[in-house]
Amino acid sequence: MWQIMQIHSCHIMRQRLLTSKTNVYFKNIVNNKPSNFIKRYVSEIKTSVDKQGNKSLLLLCSPWKLCTGVSLGICLRYLLYKGPVFCKAAQNTRTIQRRPNLYDDSSKFDWLKLFGYLRPHKWLLIAAVASALAVAFLNVYIPAMLGVIVNVLANMKNDLNTDFIEEIKLPAIELISLYIGQAAFTFFYIHLLSQVGERVASQMKQDLFESILRQDMAFFDQERTGELINRLTVDVQDFKSSFKQTISGGLRAMTQVVGSAVSLLVISPHLTGLTLICVPSVVIGGTFIGSLLRKLSREAQTQVEKATLVAEEAISNMKTVRAFAGEENEADMFSRECEIAAELSMELGLGIGLFQAGTNLFLNGMVLGTMFLGGHLMSTGQMTAGDVMAFLVNAQTVQRSVAQLSLLFGAVVKGLSAGGRVFEYINKTPTMDTSGGKIIKYHEFHGDIEFKDVTFAYPARPDAIVLKNFNLKIPAGKTVAIVGTSGNGKSTIVALLERFYDVNEGQVLIDGIDLREFDCKWLRGRALGLISQEPVLFATTVKENIRYAKPDASDAEVIQAAVTANAHEFVKSFPAGYDTLVGERGAALSGGQKQRIAIARAVLKNPPVIILDEATSALDSASEKVVQKALETAAKGRTVLVIAHRLSTVINADLIVVLNRGKIVEMGTHEQLKKLKGFYWNLIKQQDQDSDSSR
Ligand SMILES: Nc1ncnc2c1ncn2[C@@H]1O[C@H](COP(=O)(O)OP(=O)(O)O)[C@@H](O)[C@H]1O
Ligand SMILES: [Mg+2]
Repeated sequence: MWQIMQIHSCHIMRQRLLTSKTNVYFKNIVNNKPSNFIKRYVSEIKTSVDKQGNKSLLLLCSPWKLCTGVSLGICLRYLLYKGPVFCKAAQNTRTIQRRPNLYDDSSKFDWLKLFGYLRPHKWLLIAAVASALAVAFLNVYIPAMLGVIVNVLANMKNDLNTDFIEEIKLPAIELISLYIGQAAFTFFYIHLLSQVGERVASQMKQDLFESILRQDMAFFDQERTGELINRLTVDVQDFKSSFKQTISGGLRAMTQVVGSAVSLLVISPHLTGLTLICVPSVVIGGTFIGSLLRKLSREAQTQVEKATLVAEEAISNMKTVRAFAGEENEADMFSRECEIAAELSMELGLGIGLFQAGTNLFLNGMVLGTMFLGGHLMSTGQMTAGDVMAFLVNAQTVQRSVAQLSLLFGAVVKGLSAGGRVFEYINKTPTMDTSGGKIIKYHEFHGDIEFKDVTFAYPARPDAIVLKNFNLKIPAGKTVAIVGTSGNGKSTIVALLERFYDVNEGQVLIDGIDLREFDCKWLRGRALGLISQEPVLFATTVKENIRYAKPDASDAEVIQAAVTANAHEFVKSFPAGYDTLVGERGAALSGGQKQRIAIARAVLKNPPVIILDEATSALDSASEKVVQKALETAAKGRTVLVIAHRLSTVINADLIVVLNRGKIVEMGTHEQLKKLKGFYWNLIKQQDQDSDSSR
C-alpha cells in the first residue's frame, strides 16, 4: 500500500511539474463526485474524457497545498475511504455562465499601451521619479553621515580635550539638512505620483468603458455584467495601486540596493563580497516563484469575479429569487464562491509569505554574518567603528530594500494581471464594421425597407440558422405585421434592422441603400424607433427617461410626446409629476405605464420608421387597448413594422406576414389570410380557444 501511495504522490508531483499549463495535478479514477471534504483540499474538479470516451474526474490542487503535504492526505483518504468519501454530490449549485475566454492566458500585459497612457504626464512622472530617486540617494548617503558622527563620538572618548560642540556641529547640521531634504522629496514624490496614478487610472477607466460601449451585441450576449463591472472597478483599482507602489517603493528600493551596495564596496570590499553571494540566488528564486504566483493571482481574481457574478445576478433579479424562495440557495452559492476565492487568495498569501519569509531569513543571516566579519576586521584594526556602523546601516538598507522588493513583488504580480485584463478589453476591436457614414436627409427619407435573401445565425450559435433566404419588402408609410409563434425569428428580424448584428448573407436595405453603408448613430438614433416587449427605463425621472431619445428636447416637447403616447394623464397624477423617479429599470411603474413612457421616448425621437416588437404583449387587455391607441397615434404617417403574437393588434395592418421557422409561409391582409385557412387561420383558432378557456 505504501508503494501505491508513493506512486500516486510521485505522479502528482511530476504532473505538477510537467503540466503546469493545464493545471492538472491529480487524476482521480473514481467516477463519482467528490465530497466537500475532498473539495476543501483541491482547487478545482474537472471532468475529462479520454479517447475511448471514458470519463474521469481530475482533482486540481495547488503547488502550495502539495508543499504542505495535503496531497498525501488526499491519497490516504482516497485509498482508505474510496467509496463514501467520493460519493456525495454537491448540493445547491448550478452552472455559472462565464465569458468564453476565461482561461485565455494570451492577454499579455500591453507595455506600449501603458507608455501611451504615461506619455501625457511624462513631466509629472519624471519629477516623481526624480524625487523618489533623490529620496533613495539620501537614504544611501545618510548612513555615511551617521558613520562620521559615530567616529566623532568615538574620538571624543580617546581625546577628552576636544570641544564636542565644535566637532559635532558641522556633521550634525549636514545630517539635519539631509533629513529635511529627504522629507521634502518624500512629500514630492508621493504627491506627484498620486497625480499621475489617478489620472492614468481615470483615463483607463474611461477608455475601457468607451471600448465596452463600442462592442458588438454578440459580445454582450456572451459577457456577464458583473465581470465587466469588475474590470471597470476592481481591476483598474488594483492596477493603479500596484503601479504606484512599484514606482515609489520599487524604484526607491532598487536605487537603495544599488547605492548602498556601492557604498558598501567603498567601505569594505571584503564584507561586500559576502553580501553579493546572496543576491543572485534571491533573484533566480524570485523569478521562478513569480511565474507560479502570477498564475495563481489570475485564478484568484477570476474567482473573486465569479462570486461577484452570483451576488450581482441575485440582487438584480430579487423578485425571481423571492418568488422561488431562493434566498438560501443564493446565499449558499455566494458563500461557496467566496470561500473558494478566499482560499485561492490565501494560497496566494501563503506563496508570497513563504517567499518573503525565505528572503528575510536569508537577508538577516547576511546582516548577522556582516556583524561577525565586521567585528573581526575591527579587532584587527582594518576598519574603524564608524565604518562598521556605516556598513551595518548600509547593509540593513540593502536588506530592507530587498525585502521591500520581494513584498512589492506581490503587488506587481497582481497589477500585471489586473492591467492585462483591463488592456485586453481596451484593445478589443469590435468585429462589426461601423465605418459607413451615410445619412439620408430628413426630407429625402422615404422609409422603404427591404430584406433581400437574408441568411442569419447568431454569432454565439453559428450552427443554428435563424433566418434562411428571407425576403420581405415594407413599403414606405405602410404598416407590415409579422406574426408567428415564439422562437421563430421575429425579434431577430428587428435586431437585423437595427443592425445589432450583421447578416451572414444577403442585404437589409433602407431606401435602396445597404444598412452597412449608413452611419450607425444616425440609423439607430434618428431613423428607427424601437419599442420592445419589455422596455427598460433608467433609474431617473420620467422626464429624463423620455428625453433620453433626444437630449436637447425642451420640456414642452417631452410633454407633447407623453400626450401622444397617452402617458400624460397618469404622469400628471403622480405627486411629483414628470419628476417622479421610476426606480431601477422602471420597477416603480406598472407594465402599461412603462410601455407608454417607452412609446413617448420613441415618439420624441420622431423617427420615420417605427418598430414594435410585441410592444403590448406583456399587458392586460385593458392597458393593451390604451397602449394600442397610443401606438396608432404615434404610427401615423410612418413606416411601421409590427411584431405580434396577439393577432388583435395586427388586424388593421396593410400586410401580414406569417413566419414559421425563419421562413415566410403566408402573406396577405387579415381577410385574405383568414380565407386561406392555413397557418394564420390556425393561429386565430388557437388564440380564440385560449381566450375562451381563460374566460
Ligand atoms: N442573442 C442570441 N444568441 C443566440 N441565439 C439567439 C439569440 N437570440 C435569439 N436566439 C435564438 O434565435 C431564435 C429566434 O429567436 P427570436 O427572434 O427571439 O424569436 P421570436 O422573437 O420570434 O420569439 C430562437 O431559437 C432563439 O433561441
Ligand atoms: Mg421576440
